[in-house]
Amino acid sequence: DEVGREDLGSLHGIPFYKSFIEGWPQVEAFQARHDDLLIATYPKSGTTWLSEILDMIYHDGDVEKCRRDAIFNRVPFLEMKAPKIPSGVDLLEKTPSPRLVKTHLPVQLLPASFQEKDCKVIYMARNPKDVVISYYYFYQMAKIHPDPGTLAEFLETFMNGKVAYGSWYEHVRGWWEKRQEKRLLYLFYEDMKKDPRREVQKILQFLGKEVPEETVARILHHTSFQEMKKNPAANYETMPSSLMDHSLSPFMRKGISGDWKNHFTVAQNECFDRHYQQHMAGSELCFQTEV
Ligand code: PPS
Repeated sequence: DEVGREDLGSLHGIPFYKSFIEGWPQVEAFQARHDDLLIATYPKSGTTWLSEILDMIYHDGDVEKCRRDAIFNRVPFLEMKAPKIPSGVDLLEKTPSPRLVKTHLPVQLLPASFQEKDCKVIYMARNPKDVVISYYYFYQMAKIHPDPGTLAEFLETFMNGKVAYGSWYEHVRGWWEKRQEKRLLYLFYEDMKKDPRREVQKILQFLGKEVPEETVARILHHTSFQEMKKNPAANYETMPSSLMDHSLSPFMRKGISGDWKNHFTVAQNECFDRHYQQHMAGSELCFQTEV
């Protein structure tokens, strides 16, 4: 039953899991509904956190309702396709509206119907240095990935855009540029860490929803890293172990900003900074990559 480690395939030039490529025709033809809310991220940027926050908002802070199923069933992963489990599209078709939809797709690959139905989108971006570290551990524990090699090798792969979902730079910039034409709220993981109450208020305002202060407090408590780490409905421990091996690295690993400092050498950091400057030059998007 082991999911073999396999090289990535390519979908319209983006490195992509081969099993997901097989399911792509179904994803392209996906019928979005006007009241779908799309949660879009580059991998390892706070998707699960944002998903839990939104499910709590959608259920008025009812913790028990948010334990009804695992997060990957409550917020189906649009482009997911793996042997023996329902695909993201299968799950979504069975989900009653209003649906929450997770995707890591770069904006140019988003199925057309999200645009046609004018769906709201919340995008969350994270500092690339923390993304690459989180991704490195995720490559080890989630067996759909090729072997990441050493961290030095993986940094190269990441900087060259050869990881699943391709270039982080193109992803964050591509979605940033869509802010004008789409109903899109663009958030940052680091802001959510620093002041979760303010960010949750932004989300509520974007959704046009008012909730009492005690509900906000309950949402913040339930979606803290500590609470999510011990919550089987949020921490991915119910994923088949053929797909994820939590003994190699837990899905809820550290949940902090700046863990890259515990991993990068000085030389690696300088190299990463140079690469970052080159690829983000001229963009108004700004990440705090020094701290
Ligand atoms: S995935 O597989 O791409 O959907 O992963 P994703 O959920 O985007 O990212 C996983 C990282 O998010 C951290 N995380 C959190 N941080 C802070 N607070 C909360 N509540 C939280 N929940 C998840 C998780 O620990 C991963 O980051 P790292 O740095 O590896 O710990």
